[in-house]
Amino acid sequence: MTRRSIGIIVNGVTGRMGYRQHLVRSLLAIRASGGVALADGTTIWPEPVLVGRNETKLRELAERHGLTEWTTDLTSALARDDVEIYFDAQVTQQREKAIRQAIEAGKHIYTEKPLAEDTAGALDLARAADAAGIRTGVVQDKLFLPGLRKLKRLIDGGFFGRILSVRGEFGYWVFEGDWQPAQRPSWNYRLEDGGGIVVDMFPHWHYVLEELFGRVNAVSCLTATHVPERVDEDGRSYPATADDAAYAIFELDGGVVAQLNSSWAVRVYRDELVEFQVDGTEGSAVAGLRNCRVQHRAVTPKPVWNPDLPVTEDFRAQWAEVPDNEEFDNGFKVQWEAFLRHVVAGEPFRWDFLAGARGVQLAELGLRAAREGVRVEVPELNS
Ligand SMILES: NC(=O)c1ccc[n+]([C@@H]2O[C@H](COP(=O)([O-])OP(=O)(O)OC[C@H]3O[C@@H](n4cnc5c(N)ncnc54)[C@H](O)[C@@H]3O)[C@@H](O)[C@H]2O)c1
Repeated sequence: MTRRSIGIIVNGVTGRMGYRQHLVRSLLAIRASGGVALADGTTIWPEPVLVGRNETKLRELAERHGLTEWTTDLTSALARDDVEIYFDAQVTQQREKAIRQAIEAGKHIYTEKPLAEDTAGALDLARAADAAGIRTGVVQDKLFLPGLRKLKRLIDGGFFGRILSVRGEFGYWVFEGDWQPAQRPSWNYRLEDGGGIVVDMFPHWHYVLEELFGRVNAVSCLTATHVPERVDEDGRSYPATADDAAYAIFELDGGVVAQLNSSWAVRVYRDELVEFQVDGTEGSAVAGLRNCRVQHRAVTPKPVWNPDLPVTEDFRAQWAEVPDNEEFDNGFKVQWEAFLRHVVAGEPFRWDFLAGARGVQLAELGLRAAREGVRVEVPELNS
């Protein structure tokens, strides 16, 4: 068995996503499971090169995981011949500049979403990467969640008949930071620092809707900043300038209507932090991160509206659980493995920069719809 080492810059590794999901749960987890096996017997072995701004944090993090390669100097890391992939999990605002540098250095690139702050920037990166002949990828982790895999299985199996609508609830209460620390970074709540729930979540909604239900043709959206003042990591109050909730309607191919609420100012009375209800002519499903429940046409109850009588039916109990039928690994890790196979063995990988740019476009158009109070059509984006 041949081991094929591949150097990977992990920029922004001290952040929430960079550390937990990408370094620990993906790259180190891949090493712990023996690498990524290819059909010819080769094993891809990721060699992380940690990049960040804070020397102390990087050293401590590297030592904690027995890693030796780290630097605060991105340019020198990009100059290394043994580094073939640049990965970016920095704050969104820093991304475009760093990716551009990585393209110039001829590295293959994988990145967190959103790819860039606006569509023009994202499209520009897609074109530059194309011209440089490098391979690109953007994180689309939700597609690999067990709940959504089961939903996809139902769609592929024809369970729904004609799909009519999708209703999604995403969100939870993000503490203001005064009497309990906030559980998300403060830049998320400042427009000037690349924050906002539309920019954060619409790229996810874009690929979820497109991959499962069909192309997004139009968007209507209302945004709000429900919590106008928050307290940052240093205990200082700051005005929240970015949207912390978005109430949107997406019109999809085939007449499917998707209505998705995203909010960091909502308390959870649901089974999971995100849930999608899909209604079709033959059946319905409610999918979360892990679970998926269904109700078929044949077993659909017939409630009659009568506010004078107490509810006699346990509606939730009338749904059946979709079985796992397979083992689901961490979604970030599964996508990393696919990207590594794409880079090393040329296997297909469709979640590239152009796909990422379409997600950025939907966020941009969603914000425009909200600002102008209009329904906005989504034009085709070509490289
Ligand atoms: N796929 C997902 O589900 C998901 C979830 C959350 C965030 N994200 C994305 O991941 C990226 C990082 O988000 P996070 O929540 O990990 O953020 P974070 O604040 O925890 O981490 C940000 C990282 O960027 C670095 N950084 C570089 N330049 C910086 C600067 N000028 N100011 C502040 N930090 C700087 C920080 O040191 C840190 O390592 C964002 O682009 C976000 O959209 C994706």
